[in-house]
Amino acid sequence: METPSGGRAGVRADFPIFMRRFDGRELIYLDSGATSQKPQVVIDAQAEHLRSHNANVHRGVYALAQEADAAYDEARGKVAAFVGAAPETTIFTKNATEAINLVAYSWGRANVGAGDAVLITQMEHHANIVPWQVLCRERGATLRYLEVDERGELSLEALDAELARGDVRLVAFAHVSNVLGTINPVAEMTRRIRAAGAVSLVDGAQAVPQMPVDLDSLGADFYAWTGHKALGPTGVGVLHGRRELLEAMEPFLTGGDMIASVDFQTSTWNELPYKFEAGTPPIAEAVGLGAAVDYLSALGMQNVREHERRLTAYMLERLSDVPGLRVVGPPEAEHRGALASFTLEGIHPHDVAELADRGGVCIRAGHHCAQPLMRCLGVSATARASVGVYNETSDVDALVQALRAGREVFGL
Ligand SMILES: Cc1ncc(COP(=O)(O)O)c(C=O)c1O
Repeated sequence: METPSGGRAGVRADFPIFMRRFDGRELIYLDSGATSQKPQVVIDAQAEHLRSHNANVHRGVYALAQEADAAYDEARGKVAAFVGAAPETTIFTKNATEAINLVAYSWGRANVGAGDAVLITQMEHHANIVPWQVLCRERGATLRYLEVDERGELSLEALDAELARGDVRLVAFAHVSNVLGTINPVAEMTRRIRAAGAVSLVDGAQAVPQMPVDLDSLGADFYAWTGHKALGPTGVGVLHGRRELLEAMEPFLTGGDMIASVDFQTSTWNELPYKFEAGTPPIAEAVGLGAAVDYLSALGMQNVREHERRLTAYMLERLSDVPGLRVVGPPEAEHRGALASFTLEGIHPHDVAELADRGGVCIRAGHHCAQPLMRCLGVSATARASVGVYNETSDVDALVQALRAGREVFGL
């Protein structure tokens, strides 16, 4: 893929971490699903903000404070525009987990009660399970799951059947599964959910970094994602919400910027989006995320998707040549995000990751914060290789070579 800077060295040269050597070896990073590496422009934007424009936001009248205000507002504008949202309905949080918790607390506590149901899916990350478990337990509601089929996909008919029961108040589901890679038919699902009078929350943590996302056409009531997987810094996440819902909701956390006025016994709330941003927000991190979405936009999200789709297809093909290796999730790269989770017969996934590391390749092993899904798949863990804008086919080759060498170590 071509770098936005036009440099001949390619995209990888924009990411300084790839200058590092580990025992003389290059870094082969196949763990972008956990967190992405950062381009120099993001590191520079954050450092420059701290070096030259640092002040708290929305409090000072002096010039420096106004620069900080402008930088924070500009970052929000960029982040909102990146996914086709309005700045006022784009709330900065700490991460995707906090964004989902915000909805579970502020919307959930007011709208879910005894006899109601919350519907999620078997492929969810813990961040999109546990807040609903806690809400349902507290409110006497029921938590139900849409099943994942043998291809690693959801059934729209099953969704319809659940909605027809008439008690579902909210459906929460991943745009892209962090284990199966499945890309869910979000627009189709949100249309059915809305028609049934329920509210939708989409966990876009794995989607926003790797494909064009247009919130208007997706139609979700709430959409959550996280900066650090999208080439941005840690410590900043995003919640987009439908304006009427956000306006009707009580605040999640209280204090600081979310306040309009405070009396001895009562307070009034600031307008959107500040009503949901208590305390000093992640200012420099938001600025860094603004630079990250600028960088991704310059690459072109369609190009990012095409690059990663091609790499994923290559990875699926190469992995299928490794004896005893089984990939979970949809078999075709067209239907999945940029990752492959797999098991290797005779070797525990943690040993697989360790063996890959011996070959200089970073992959992840474990339950990937999706323990219920692991149970459905009948495994305790998988290994997972996930690609980003900076990966090339040679990285996949190195993984396959390391896996083959690992099998020999185990006498397989
Ligand atoms: C699908 C999905 N949802 C939510 C999260 C949580 O993201 P964060 O830890 O940044 O809140 C992750 C992170 O792995 C994820 O993959």
